[in-house]
Amino acid sequence: MKITITKNEQKFDQRAAWTIIGQMLSKPNSVIGLSTGETTKNMHKIVSDIYKANPFLTEEVRIFNVDELTNLPRTYAGSCFSMIKTQICDNLNIPEEHFIMPPTFSDDFELECRNFDESLEKAGGVDLQMLGIGWNGHIGINQPGTPFHSTTWVSPMDPIFEARVRKETGVDDNYPLGGLTLGIKSIMNMKKVVLIAKGKHKAEIIKKALKGPVTTDIPASVLQLHPNCEVLLDADAASML
Ligand code: GLP
Repeated sequence: MKITITKNEQKFDQRAAWTIIGQMLSKPNSVIGLSTGETTKNMHKIVSDIYKANPFLTEEVRIFNVDELTNLPRTYAGSCFSMIKTQICDNLNIPEEHFIMPPTFSDDFELECRNFDESLEKAGGVDLQMLGIGWNGHIGINQPGTPFHSTTWVSPMDPIFEARVRKETGVDDNYPLGGLTLGIKSIMNMKKVVLIAKGKHKAEIIKKALKGPVTTDIPASVLQLHPNCEVLLDADAASML
């Protein structure tokens, strides 16, 4: 795995933004997967700012997010649909039909998961996935213990994240919340994955994921086996390597 370590957070954001733009420029009909969260907010803004200053072809680009919350309306500001739409798709004039996302409500999520996988396949497969990592090593919403052969599915959220969503939405504790996520197998099938992390709080999990054993206890560790996975870190996230 090629590991790139940037001097600071700002350089990380810029480098990550240019990775996305580079993919769009080198293959204008690319299928690009994004991740929501603090790691990606600013890189999405930089991509948008660069596009605004120097527009490039985005008509054929297909964008999706690696996961989506279930049982909450898409209009909730914390839904992945809303975040990716406002942070990047709208700014880059990505046509709505090229923003591939599963619905947040459904009577048949198994079918929605298959549909999501199929739409990405039909679009030509995933060219690039900018993949965040959770504090416990989760990728997408695949929590520790998720089998490596998992395809797209609805996973429970990690407890800290779920508590945050419940607080923000006021959803009652008895009401189930989950996350539809591309499975580990789906991620391993992508043509290129860039694992991204910044900040001291990610240093320990990055060490475990990159230097520790490949284990379902740390879902991101499976990326050590991906044929085309690069890692982009700022100096803080890389400080324990
Ligand atoms: C959530 C998202 C993940 C993301 C992770 C890291 O769990 N579902 O896709 O990678 O958070 O978030 P942050 O960048 O805020 O640390």
